[in-house]
Amino acid sequence: MSAGFSGEVVEFYAKYRRGYAQDVIGWLAEAFALADHGVVLDLGCGTGQLTVPLAARAHAVIGMDPEPDMLARAKDTAAGHGCTNITWLLGSDRDLPALAGLLGEHTLAAITMANSIHLLDYQRLFGAARPLLRPGGGIAVLANGTPLWRQDSAASGALRACLEQWFEVQLVSGCGTDQQSRREYAAALKATGYVEVRETVLIDREDVLDVEHVIGNLYSAIPARQLPPPQRRPAFEERIRQALPDGVFAERVRVSVLTGRVTLAGEVT
Ligand SMILES: C[S@@+](CC[C@H](N)C(=O)[O-])C[C@H]1O[C@@H](n2cnc3c(N)ncnc32)[C@H](O)[C@@H]1O
Repeated sequence: MSAGFSGEVVEFYAKYRRGYAQDVIGWLAEAFALADHGVVLDLGCGTGQLTVPLAARAHAVIGMDPEPDMLARAKDTAAGHGCTNITWLLGSDRDLPALAGLLGEHTLAAITMANSIHLLDYQRLFGAARPLLRPGGGIAVLANGTPLWRQDSAASGALRACLEQWFEVQLVSGCGTDQQSRREYAAALKATGYVEVRETVLIDREDVLDVEHVIGNLYSAIPARQLPPPQRRPAFEERIRQALPDGVFAERVRVSVLTGRVTLAGEVT
């Protein structure tokens, strides 16, 4: 079943998700020598929040996502920025072998997965990605902060309790940002033969969100089919306001990237 990044959720995503700081884009460009004819596959590219700025530093980028609405929004954003070096593909992690046939072997400098790895079959993907990557190239698994309801603060706990009650679910997943998941991804990269596997923290700071941003961020993360219908939104939003009596949310913004290479940087095979 689709993860539900469609319909209204797309606009909430584009408006209320923090994009990627230039420092992050610059770090990826350096780490994978993108200035040297670097071609990147951004898998699970969503609305293109990483794809579009990355394209300014790469020779070419492929933005791939299984959700047509996300991809359409990404295309519009790229057109608005005058990008001409992005190819958009409707597809998922399962399409990597087909992509290898199309691109040929050892063509990609990097495959980025930003806030999307928890939706993929990462073990199979890491294997399927190897033949596509050029020497020194690799995989970058980005975590762009922690979900607002999974942070280590009283406000986050209150938000989580409120959501769990409203949706009658237990919210245990860190969406691939938690330490345990990161360790599992790192172990899987090593087990698949990647080298220089390491996690690098690029940003660690606090941001203050007003309630409108908290609600917009939540709507960007709820599958479209589960969004509260318009007539129930005032009640839902009132619950969120009650959970955050200060009217603001202090968000810890920890941006990190887990990388692994097919061969050591600079090594010629
Ligand atoms: C949380 S969004 C991240 C979007 C973007 N990378 C970003 O950082 O803003 C997750 C994206 O992964 C996509 N996705 C879901 N399942 C996928 C799969 N099996 N293969 C590739 N992408 C997938 C979703 O459609 C969605 O656009």
